[in-house]
Amino acid sequence: MTEPAAAPVDTRPYSPGLEGIVAGESSLSYIDGAAGRLLYRGYPIGELVRDGTYPAIADLLWTGDWNPAARLPCAPVPPPVMAALRALPASAKPMDALRTAVSAWGATQKLTWPASPEQARALTSFSPSALAAFARLRRGLEPVEPDPELDLVAGFLYQINGERPDDATARALDAYFIVGAEHGFNASTFTCRVITSTRSDLASAVCGAIGAMKGPLHGGAPSEVVEQIHQVGSPDKAEAWIRGALDRKERLMGFGHRVYRAYDPRAAALRQVAESLANRPEWLDLAITVEDVALRVLAEKYPDRPIKTNVEYYAAPVLMGVGLTPDLFPATFALARHAGWTAHAIEQGADNRLIRPSVRYIGPAERSLPGG
Ligand code: COA
Repeated sequence: MTEPAAAPVDTRPYSPGLEGIVAGESSLSYIDGAAGRLLYRGYPIGELVRDGTYPAIADLLWTGDWNPAARLPCAPVPPPVMAALRALPASAKPMDALRTAVSAWGATQKLTWPASPEQARALTSFSPSALAAFARLRRGLEPVEPDPELDLVAGFLYQINGERPDDATARALDAYFIVGAEHGFNASTFTCRVITSTRSDLASAVCGAIGAMKGPLHGGAPSEVVEQIHQVGSPDKAEAWIRGALDRKERLMGFGHRVYRAYDPRAAALRQVAESLANRPEWLDLAITVEDVALRVLAEKYPDRPIKTNVEYYAAPVLMGVGLTPDLFPATFALARHAGWTAHAIEQGADNRLIRPSVRYIGPAERSLPGG
């Protein structure tokens, strides 16, 4: 009897977590982690926040054209989707409600492949209405119909609160949506491209992306920043609290990034927005003190590894300042990322190749069943 052959040694390159692997090409955004630069189709994020609106930035990502007058009002929630939202328990996580709504929405559309800018517009303008409807339903309130005169972000706040936001509040959340719109091959965007590459439809791809973003390693940090600032309590306690956390090997939320080694340019843009908020949260000054101390202590602890402020740190005061509760933060981030996800789906569909990597087998060599 001959012995079964052992599995051949696989010498192909392998990078856990695909870190450092170039897995596609894109003309949507460029991240320069060393210099702290982020460009959407070549335009710096700081300029886009200063001069753009979320509808204009979404349009830029979908079409490549810069149209500062672009408009994107929220779309109504189709009745079958509203029925699905009404059937959810009030305790459901907003991310689960949003994923459910996008799935039900897909079932009401006749989405063809490849995805188009029209499909991207339809889905991106539907989702804020669905999340706002759920945010009201779970409080025992009836959903509010979208106001076609309001653009997407103001329209989202209107549908949550039942009254129009003031301009400064809408503008602050719009800035958050702009910096959250797109960020290369992060886990949710890559998921979206994998699903699109099978020639599946846009709603399925965005459902998958929401599922990926729901994980705490991807979309959960801003609410933890709020918790951290509350724990610090007052500026005089910041240094002791931070040193204590680092001694316990805890991570400071809102600091560090896999790609950025410099100050995250999105954090810089959002800090300006947070500081100019009409409803400036009381603890913003505390957050600024905590940041200064944290950067000093991190630089002392990790002299060879720059750990700087990331986008989530200043996302927290902006989201609080516009009146959203921390449990809505991850789903609001998902709404902002719709522009990027759907733009990637369009880009993937325009030059498609099924995304299907290989796996290194590390199980037993070929063998017979016991007793065989
Ligand atoms: N607080 C304290 N220490 C940190 C830190 C932070 N925020 N970020 C990194 N470090 C430390 C690590 O503990 C590690 O130290 P060690 O070598 O003594 O173990 C070292 O820096 C390298 O960490 P590593 O996990 O390899 O860095 P990374 O580049 O993979 O991590 C993050 C990126 C974002 C996961 C990490 O910085 C982090 O957990 N940040 C806090 C959560 C957060 O803000 N997430 C939102 C990101 S947009």
